[in-house]
Amino acid sequence: MTETPQKPVLLTGASGNLGRQLTTYLAARGWNLRLTDIAPFPGTVPAGCTFTRADLSNGVDILRLAEGCGMILHFGGVSVERPFDEVIGPNIRGLYHIYEAARREGARVLFASSNHAIGFHERAEPLNDDCQLLPDGYYGLSKAYGELMGRMYWFKHGVESVSVRIGSCFPEPTEERMLSTWLSYADLCRLCERATLADSTGCIVLWGASANARTFWRGDAREKIGWLPQDSADIYAGQLLGKTSGDPVIELYQGGGYTRIEYSRAAPPPGRLFAG
Ligand SMILES: NC(=O)c1ccc[n+]([C@@H]2O[C@H](COP(=O)([O-])OP(=O)(O)OC[C@H]3O[C@@H](n4cnc5c(N)ncnc54)[C@H](O)[C@@H]3O)[C@@H](O)[C@H]2O)c1
Repeated sequence: MTETPQKPVLLTGASGNLGRQLTTYLAARGWNLRLTDIAPFPGTVPAGCTFTRADLSNGVDILRLAEGCGMILHFGGVSVERPFDEVIGPNIRGLYHIYEAARREGARVLFASSNHAIGFHERAEPLNDDCQLLPDGYYGLSKAYGELMGRMYWFKHGVESVSVRIGSCFPEPTEERMLSTWLSYADLCRLCERATLADSTGCIVLWGASANARTFWRGDAREKIGWLPQDSADIYAGQLLGKTSGDPVIELYQGGGYTRIEYSRAAPPPGRLFAG
């Protein structure tokens, strides 16, 4: 018999790519999901789940939706690089509403952070979870802010959170960089399941990637939730090695193409962090 959480679970971004994967996986295990998104839910809402359309920018709606929940899987918001003014509402103010709701309910948060919170680290540099936050745009900056918000709510209010720096979560990897960053849908779903069912998490950051031999990332606290990725991008190496952009900036940094958006330096700084 599969384990189910004692209290309902709020899933934001339920109509999005990852939200739909999580809905299918967790609903099939009998979870009581409260689904929400600003966009309509595509398809039929699974039995045992409810869907409510709401804007993350509306704090009253988010507080109401979270009532009685023990866990918030927070996947809603702007999910790609966009101008600052478009990011700030859903990803900064919206996140504040999520953490305030978690504080009021005594709920845990899983925050869908991103590799773009650390995107300006060079690919040749293996990272631990406590590496410097080096966002590669306004989107990545909002994810870095979100991780810091989790820390503040932990130290000040005891709100538990698991920030997952998701690499590239797609049906399959499509370029050489993703041999390092790919996270399978199944590994993501199992991670969210474990993060919800774990007795305690404290405030941790996890690398959201499958078991890829070419990973950029190593140390994190995954044993705290008992999660180990079971899939790997390695089987795609034969078809993807050499499939690169050819752009020296994109290929230098872990954040890939996002580092290039509105990039205005003549060239990357030489050597290590902040040099030159
Ligand atoms: N897919 C990846 O590889 C990846 C990588 C890193 C991080 N992430 C993060 O995971 C989460 C889900 O990603 P995705 O690929 O499913 O993106 P997605 O764009 O498909 O889903 C995001 C959802 O958020 C909703 N949303 C946007 N603004 C909203 C608002 N103001 N109020 C309520 N809902 C709003 C959208 O309607 C959408 O359904 C995002 O937070 C994203 O930043 C994804």
